Amino acid sequence: MPAIHLRQGGISLVIGLDGGCPQVLHWGADLGPELPDLGILDDAVPHSALDVPVVLGLLPQASAGWRGRPGLCGHRLGDGPPGFSPRLSLHGWFHHGREATIEQADEELGLSVTTFLTLHDGGLLEMRHEVANRGGTDFALDAVSVVLPVGRAGTEILDLTGRWCRERHPQRRPAGQGTWVRSGRHGRTGHDSPLLMAVGTPGFGNRHGKVWAGHFGWSGDHEQFVDTVADGRTVMGAAELLGSGEVALGPGEKYATPRYFAAYSDHGLDGISEAFHRWFRARSHHPSMPRPVVLNVWEAVYFNHDLGVLTELADSAAELGVERFVLDDGWFRHRRNDLAGLGDWYVDEGLWPDGLHPLVEAVTSRGMQFGLWVEPEMVNADSDVARAHPDWIAGPAPRHDAGSPLPLPWRHQQVLDLVNPGAWQYIYDRLDALLSEYPISYLKWDQNRDLAEMGHDGVPSVHRQTLAVYRLLDALRAAHPRVEIESCSSGGARVDLGILERTDRIWASDCNDALERQAIQRWTGLVVPPELVGSHIGPTTAHTTGRTHDLSFRALTALFGHFGLEWDIRQVRGAERDELRGAVGLYKRHRALIHTGTMVRADVPDPSLMLHGVVAGDGTRALFALAAVATSYSEQPGRVALPGLAPDTLYRVELCYPGPDAAGTTFVQASPPAWVAGGALASGRFLAEVGLPMPVLNPEHAILLEVTAR
Ligand code: GLA
Repeated sequence: MPAIHLRQGGISLVIGLDGGCPQVLHWGADLGPELPDLGILDDAVPHSALDVPVVLGLLPQASAGWRGRPGLCGHRLGDGPPGFSPRLSLHGWFHHGREATIEQADEELGLSVTTFLTLHDGGLLEMRHEVANRGGTDFALDAVSVVLPVGRAGTEILDLTGRWCRERHPQRRPAGQGTWVRSGRHGRTGHDSPLLMAVGTPGFGNRHGKVWAGHFGWSGDHEQFVDTVADGRTVMGAAELLGSGEVALGPGEKYATPRYFAAYSDHGLDGISEAFHRWFRARSHHPSMPRPVVLNVWEAVYFNHDLGVLTELADSAAELGVERFVLDDGWFRHRRNDLAGLGDWYVDEGLWPDGLHPLVEAVTSRGMQFGLWVEPEMVNADSDVARAHPDWIAGPAPRHDAGSPLPLPWRHQQVLDLVNPGAWQYIYDRLDALLSEYPISYLKWDQNRDLAEMGHDGVPSVHRQTLAVYRLLDALRAAHPRVEIESCSSGGARVDLGILERTDRIWASDCNDALERQAIQRWTGLVVPPELVGSHIGPTTAHTTGRTHDLSFRALTALFGHFGLEWDIRQVRGAERDELRGAVGLYKRHRALIHTGTMVRADVPDPSLMLHGVVAGDGTRALFALAAVATSYSEQPGRVALPGLAPDTLYRVELCYPGPDAAGTTFVQASPPAWVAGGALASGRFLAEVGLPMPVLNPEHAILLEVTAR
């Protein structure tokens, strides 16, 4: 059977092209350059079944016998037959290096589907479909799924879930017969978005087990699923959830699915992360190093904007070594609290008689970049813009006046209908004006509500709204290419590769509690590399949980991300201030390593301990953090492995922060392990296989180990 074989980064993707339905015959470990005659893979035909082997097409369809979730649902409008069951078959293909394009068509139905596949350097597979209406009438499209087969060994599912201030926590279950679906109808990616759906061998861990995993690069409504059908095959995939009647393709029109990104690893989740991180870092627009230390003033002042206080904060920040100062919510017209003002993107003349210039001057004259918070997709009913343009508020029916019904409010706000060209242009012009008037280096681009009953002119519009937001970001980036943009969405409700193609970091969560952040960042890091994950040292007592943590635990948690501060640092004095200045210095010293190295996560049997680290690409340096996230069942941690180092290299391991004699409450031991005093010398193999005995940590404390090749 003719086939396309893409090979890259230890991965093979084999697509059979036998003239009927193109089908993925293998996605997983590299098979080497030579393939046997693939006819040997034709399945048996069981009793009480279709009379021919069932093909899982590149786009699964009932016409090829597939009884799982169909790849394409829709029907033709007009007087002719609706053609509810597509019979797509191979029409043409193109293969060059690690890219392939495959076209299928159903001539009778007047539909063609082109599939684009790229296997990137680190083995990350990128896949999408484009559906074209070649008929003479409209074609109503309900769903198009991107689907890949999972190896038979994959029998356990892991995906992520969450809520505000607790984003991206894992859940597991066996992949039994049936479908496991995660649907997101938030109009945004969602706090509870799975981020990644992984299927692996039972008990697969951070560094062991075979894993197949997929991520959907889309910021609107979506579904991700794992489908195990009666014949024993398992597929994984994703689709955009289209609203009823939302997509009717006119003759000649096309619909493009968002991109699906998929990785296979034979050494657990770390292999999956490696594929994603390598893909991010290979992009030409990946943010350049070094990532500046941020002060965000939200948890320092909230809406209480006062030039005097903010200037004191700028002073204090500069003294600590901060490099970027971000003015959060509260600077624009009518915005004294979260009840009003969204949409009125003019600097408030009462608060800022001279505009933001005095503050910008205070910030930039102290050598820091200036960043500004905006929430361009939203509007308060209590705003000048909503009063002037009630029809710009998105809802289920066209809105002609202020009396028309509105969707339920969320944080007192509504969604601006960016599908409306007037509304889109107004927002573009306002942001463009701000970026032109002030030397703004950074926008914190927020999006603080789910989209409910989202419509434009009475037709569901999440699809078009999402594309309009992308267009807005693209246009502003083209006009202001040096401005970095953060994707924030009530914390971490918009983390996906669609938004990250046009932004430079994400705000992982509104929760700055270091304990919560340990988990949130671990699981965010499954896909997103640390240089793109905003991570701040918050106040001593976290505002969102009431928990109090030592500075060292907060600093070590923020260290493994794009580091910053978010509290009233004017109040930090004496020894604590010295320690904070030291933490900023620690980040600056190590950011190049943290932001380019390979992320490793150990499989520590004691669930109270998390060990993660980052190893330089050339294996000469590494940093590891051991965090106690709960009380342990054992008296002391004993030996903990430090994985991922070069096996035959000799390393020195030193306890770097907090020092063994540091003040604070990190340690609870009569004496530390012997090696702590002078450092340990051992090979990478020894450190991975035997490990080192660790100090006894109090819960909610962490230590940093610095590892250097000798
Ligand atoms: C959202 C963000 C916060 C902050 C506030 C401002 O909740 O996630 O970081 O910017 O909005 O209103």
